[in-house]
Amino acid sequence: MSVETRTKSSVTDAPSSELIRLAGVTKRFGTNTVLDQLDFSVQPGKHVTLIGPSGSGKTTILRLLMTLTKPDEGTITVDGQQLFPAPEKQIREVRKKIGMVFQQFNLFPNMSVLRNITEAPVQVLGMSRDEAEARARELLDLVGLADKCDARPTRLSGGQQQRVAIARALAMRPQVLLLDEVTSALDPELVAGVLDLLRDIARSTDITMLCVTHEMGFARDISDQVLMFDSGRVIESGPPEKIFSDPDQDRTREFLSAVL
Ligand SMILES: Nc1ncnc2c1ncn2[C@@H]1O[C@H](COP(=O)(O)OP(=O)(O)OP(=O)(O)O)[C@@H](O)[C@H]1O
Ligand SMILES: [Mg+2]
Repeated sequence: MSVETRTKSSVTDAPSSELIRLAGVTKRFGTNTVLDQLDFSVQPGKHVTLIGPSGSGKTTILRLLMTLTKPDEGTITVDGQQLFPAPEKQIREVRKKIGMVFQQFNLFPNMSVLRNITEAPVQVLGMSRDEAEARARELLDLVGLADKCDARPTRLSGGQQQRVAIARALAMRPQVLLLDEVTSALDPELVAGVLDLLRDIARSTDITMLCVTHEMGFARDISDQVLMFDSGRVIESGPPEKIFSDPDQDRTREFLSAVL
């Protein structure tokens, strides 16, 4: 196991600072206000899970952080650098700190597994191909796919593809890992393996995680904080023991009784 980028101990260096901050973020699609003056922040090294009904804006938040879409109002700051509004160069710098794993894997189908993992470190970080390959092999070992370097993603199972996607995200040595329902496209018997891998990563690194999931057991295990979304706002937040066992809001209770 070697995600050697960041060790747990460095979490304590700056326990009170914020790595991610959204302030007054509003996002509209036409007349649909998807995020409504949203405020929240995430401290470095923390694992925060977003829960809430379909359409409540969870994916939109991750897409904003990935700069795949822009807010209509408000500011987003990552590691002290503003993401919106900001010059293009600054946005690129901030983007390097963030990795994302999608529900549908989004691997490059025409590239080998190894190349999927080395491409961004070489192209975006300017890493030498040798170094990127050594790192990719280490990560494939970590995710249990050392023997699949030369395979095309289409030859892999969904669970294996998602492991490659996780390795690809880690290859950028991100400070922040965004996970959007990463097991919901998997066959049921493949879910546990991917969740175990993510639990391992959560335990053994201090990568900050922002995670959208319907796997409430997993959320309970890894989360420092759970945010309940409804209609583009955080209606309740707290530690998982509180949110899952004794939420304050009826809406949270109702949502949990439908998904648990
Ligand atoms: N590109 C888009 N154009 C128009 N509307 C969009 C777009 N992307 C998202 N929306 C709308 O924004 C709202 C929030 O979508 P989002 O995908 O963030 O929800 P979600 O909480 O992730 O839902 P789910 O749990 O189903 O994934 C929805 O009403 C959706 O229809
Ligand atoms: Mg979503």
